[in-house]
Amino acid sequence: MSLARRKFDVLAIGAGGGGLRSALQLSREEANVAVVSKVFPTRSHTVAAQGGINAALANVLPDNWHWHMYDTVKGSDYLGDQDAIEYMCRAASHLVYELEHYGVPFSRLDNGKIYQRPFGGQSQNFGGDQAARTCAAADRTGHAMLHSLYQQNIRAKTHFFDEYFAVDLIKDQDGFILGALVVEIESGEPLLIEAKTTLLATGGAGQLFRTNTNARINTGDGLGMALRAGIPLQDMEFFQFHPTGIAGKGMLITEGARGEGGYLLNKDGERFMERYAPHAKDLASRDVVSRAIATEVREGRGCGPEGDYVLLKLDHLGQEVLNKRLPGISDTIQTFLHIDPAKEPVPVFPTAHYTMGGIPTNRHGRVVVPVEQGEEEIPGLYAAGECACVSVHGANRLGGNSLLDIVVFGRAAGNDIIDYLKKNRYHRQLDNSSVEQAMARLTRWDQKGDGERVADLRYELQATMEKYCGVFRTKEVLQEGVEKVLQLEKRMADVRLHDHSRVFNTARIEAMELENLMDIALATVVSALAREESRGAHSRIDFPQRDDVHWLKHSLFFKEGRRLEYKPVTLKPLSVESFPPKERVY
Ligand code: FUM
Repeated sequence: MSLARRKFDVLAIGAGGGGLRSALQLSREEANVAVVSKVFPTRSHTVAAQGGINAALANVLPDNWHWHMYDTVKGSDYLGDQDAIEYMCRAASHLVYELEHYGVPFSRLDNGKIYQRPFGGQSQNFGGDQAARTCAAADRTGHAMLHSLYQQNIRAKTHFFDEYFAVDLIKDQDGFILGALVVEIESGEPLLIEAKTTLLATGGAGQLFRTNTNARINTGDGLGMALRAGIPLQDMEFFQFHPTGIAGKGMLITEGARGEGGYLLNKDGERFMERYAPHAKDLASRDVVSRAIATEVREGRGCGPEGDYVLLKLDHLGQEVLNKRLPGISDTIQTFLHIDPAKEPVPVFPTAHYTMGGIPTNRHGRVVVPVEQGEEEIPGLYAAGECACVSVHGANRLGGNSLLDIVVFGRAAGNDIIDYLKKNRYHRQLDNSSVEQAMARLTRWDQKGDGERVADLRYELQATMEKYCGVFRTKEVLQEGVEKVLQLEKRMADVRLHDHSRVFNTARIEAMELENLMDIALATVVSALAREESRGAHSRIDFPQRDDVHWLKHSLFFKEGRRLEYKPVTLKPLSVESFPPKERVY
């Protein structure tokens, strides 16, 4: 087959914080690294992260990594793996100082130290008073981090393929991953990138839901590629709904707004979080606050003509705090709602935000799959960032832990790849059948004729997921959700593109994104239907309690046969005592 080819030591797919932090580690060690990104790198979704990155620097209030670890385990509703969580929380301070040295312009305290704000689910002394652990660059922390990481990669001579879409992984009969088939969006031409190791860092799948905080690019492409390569997805039933999206529109209003002193009100002007979380109030963990808002609305205490949102009060913070600490959301609120947050409260409602599940990895970033006696690594394949499930977030992620996750495990994957490359010095023989399969995925979209439109199916899928797999779930609703997604999946065969040109044909890219979303939607609803308990973000009205006897385990969804398997949660940390599951109170 005549196909343009390039060869690298490492192929990183995705140029958000996970991909870039990993690539930086590798390029500095003289590895030959290619980063493929479907958008210009600084448009990756990390750019949109607002509130900050967690590290127990103790710049504002007493803190240490062990308290951070406790909060993360508790926040995860005990589904997080405690070895990985210890690793992440221990590494956090070092990684933040490293970012500072890369040029991230963190906000400062009067004494010149990095500014830290309180965020949800944070405590001092294992569940005591509120902590202030989130290091912030105003409310544009992700923007600052992504730009610094990109600049450092340019300096380190990482090779970028900007605006290339990854179609599928290439693997051989022995199960080694050998790179990926990608397509240059500008020309529409395919390119085969051979690599000794491939890192998936494609971000989350927030576009599964109609109302979300995510960029349009967040279509879970790495998750789709993993499923098609026979790799299961872990814990997909746990999708985070951020409590404060702009009502009806979804744009993110950072938790930092509540960290700075903002609070939520219902239609009676009641500060209702005091009833749901008497101690932490508006800074309880996200699953708790999102459920509280949804409950207020369901029980008739919502605001507005339809009673379908609550209000976030910020005006008492004053113009100076809004300008200095929350300029980005002040802009967003004025642009999309024509409201001045210094004068009026802001209508908010939970909005799809973060994919807690993903491609199963160990804490070295290696992708792992179950075998009879435990699990084994997929040779040559790594994943980091939101597309991976390490699992440090378990059933509910704490705000500020995602920017941390991407740099900690991006770097860890980079380090492990360096070792892998020392032991695997040569490119393996390419497997043509795998290349042909990937090409078939691309050429399928050359089929002509009448058919359904990608945009229609995508919209129906998003609306279905919102309706049948939202904040509150039941067996009946989820069963209907599975049926609806299966019907949509069937209709995919009849979808046709009307534009068959090659040059900058974004319709073709969106079609392949939709294929990815469809697979991920099924993984999500099937896993959610099976889990008969309430844990973290997965809230079953018919099974309102957490059930540690039967369900303290990770789910694994396989595309083939839509099969589920389970694996144990790692309760044993690396060096400290385990935090055994107990009732969560905020
Ligand atoms: O609310 C926020 O600023 C979001 C932060 C996060 O998801 O970690």
